[in-house]
Amino acid sequence: MKKLLILLAVSAFVSCQQKNEKSAFQATDTKEDSALLIKAREYFKVLPAQAVMITDPVKQSREKLGYLLFYDPRLSKSGTTSCNSCHNLSSFGVDNLSAASSPEGNPAGRNAPTVFNAALHNMYFWDGRALTMEEQPGKMVLNPDELSVPHLGFIVNRLRSDSIYPSLFAASFPDDKIPVSFTNVKRSIAAFERTLLTPSRFDVFMSGNLSALKPEEKQGLALFMEAGCANCHNGVGVGGNSAQRFGIFTDYRTLTHSRVDDEGKMKVTGDSKDKDVFKVPGLRNVGMTYPYFHDGSIASLDSSVKIMGKVELNKSFTETEVKNIVSFLKTLTGDIREEAKKMPEELKGIK
Ligand code: HEC
Ligand code: HEC
Repeated sequence: MKKLLILLAVSAFVSCQQKNEKSAFQATDTKEDSALLIKAREYFKVLPAQAVMITDPVKQSREKLGYLLFYDPRLSKSGTTSCNSCHNLSSFGVDNLSAASSPEGNPAGRNAPTVFNAALHNMYFWDGRALTMEEQPGKMVLNPDELSVPHLGFIVNRLRSDSIYPSLFAASFPDDKIPVSFTNVKRSIAAFERTLLTPSRFDVFMSGNLSALKPEEKQGLALFMEAGCANCHNGVGVGGNSAQRFGIFTDYRTLTHSRVDDEGKMKVTGDSKDKDVFKVPGLRNVGMTYPYFHDGSIASLDSSVKIMGKVELNKSFTETEVKNIVSFLKTLTGDIREEAKKMPEELKGIK
């Protein structure tokens, strides 16, 4: 009898404990999620709301002008390449080629980064050599590897004698005596690029909807922060706001087997402390912007994550950890505004 009582007491205790454990588990489940969200908010930010309805006609006109210029092949010397040839807006702003090459046949040696969400970065190009959106089309247009325009007057003359542009420039820059100028080409393209934002499921989570991410995606996010990835890839772009050495623990070349020896920022500054320093790319849409790294040397996202772990953090991840990080990274794949994907009507007739 005594034994039975003890047994009953024990089983009651066990079942009671099980119940406690169960409810405790459920409670910590959401607590953990809330803690994850709080931590994530220390590192990342929600994308600003899409420019919904712009009512200012000048601003509207500038964005439209930038949209046309972005798609217009007449911005290249050959008349066959537009910004969209390499930064294809229907494929997440990239060409999915390892290194961009121009129709003139000059391999740039570098992978074309996406233009989506780039407006939120604070430096441009793989070596961070441009600091504003306005600077960068100038560097593109004049780069023999990109649009190969011999000098800026060349483009401006082309645009001035065109049938659609002069009036559009005038409406976009009503206070300028000479609206068709290269400065205004840059300002318009930059205005258009600022509209290229892609909110994703990650933003829904960041806005407080804890069930927007699946368990493995949450685990990936937690590991991304714990392992130290978020020390470099952070902010609203999940990167794009600093330049860092690619290869803190291991020379990147031993893992990427890069064919072109690129020393990154050192090529620009000549300073040996900038050797192999590259812009930390923003990781929004990274699931779609393959191949990876400045030279597009790595085709798969799994391999890129493993390489990053090794060269930047001296960490080897298990297959499950890599899978979780990758599934988190894919939550950064966002929605592209439909209109941006379409070739402007105005340009359909041009040769
Ligand atoms: C032939 C392909 C090609 C064309 C055409 C081209 N680009 Fe690029 N773009 C690239 C490559 C390659 C890079 C990276 C170059 C580097 O880092 O040195 C780049 C970099 C950029 C960046 C910086 C992105 C970042 O995150 O740092 C922006 C923005 C950009 N291009 C916009 C444009 C615009 C606007 C045009 C048209 C005026 C244009 N590109 C035309 C290939 C191209
Ligand atoms: C010390 C800073 C630093 C840390 C830490 C870091 N990264 Fe990077 N990451 C970079 C830089 C710099 C590049 C660009 C390298 C190059 O030149 O190609 C990069 C590139 C990438 C790319 C390729 C993106 C593209 O568009 O080509 C991925 C993916 C990536 N990192 C993921 C991660 C992950 C996952 C972690 C954590 C395991 C991590 N990074 C940790 C600095 C860092």
